[in-house]
Amino acid sequence: MKIFLDSADLKEVRTAAGWGVLSGVTTNPTLAAKAGARDFKSVLAEICQLVPGAAISAEVVSSDTDSMLNEARELAAVDPQVVVKIPVTPDGLAAVRQLGQEGIRTNVTLVFSTAQAILAAAAGADFVSPFVGRLDDRGEDGLGLVGEIMKVFNTYRYATEVIAASIRTPRQVVGAALAGAHIATVPFKVLQRLFEHPLTAQGIERFRADWELLQGR
Ligand code: E4P
Repeated sequence: MKIFLDSADLKEVRTAAGWGVLSGVTTNPTLAAKAGARDFKSVLAEICQLVPGAAISAEVVSSDTDSMLNEARELAAVDPQVVVKIPVTPDGLAAVRQLGQEGIRTNVTLVFSTAQAILAAAAGADFVSPFVGRLDDRGEDGLGLVGEIMKVFNTYRYATEVIAASIRTPRQVVGAALAGAHIATVPFKVLQRLFEHPLTAQGIERFRADWELLQGR
């Protein structure tokens, strides 16, 4: 499973890119606002440079097809790495179909059901993003949804890649992998926690101490 970073914060993107584990970045208007990214297009361009060759998602905010198409074309013009995030609505999927014909990649977002994911694939989306954490917040089964979508997508060999999104915990990342998701997009804090295990820290300390003993320090 590939790891994307779910952030529009340049410091976080730079740090996570330096760890060598990133295959992409996803942003959304809330993350852009949180990062204080007023000139979002230049932030987007910088993210593309920080993670060369990776898929970088940026979201439209319009609700009708024509306006979404205009926004999408502007975002895609920033860099060929840009993937345009479009919500799973009838207008949104019409835009997805058209953008596919123009060679602009899309990530269908705000997916909360298998039916929505099937529609996104039918419209030719490159990626589809089921939101795990937001479903769990409502007492529903976010990872169960990812598993169900994977079952359908594998049965029909859809080319659309599934991004487990709205991730809140390291265990959800593992759950997404076990469910067969192609990608998990992970907030910076959760990505940091994925590295952690007390035995790793203890082991490093013990090896260092033993080595120093051998050197007679
Ligand atoms: C996905 O691409 C979204 O940016 C993100 O995962 C939403 O997560 P949230 O539910 O924590 O806002």
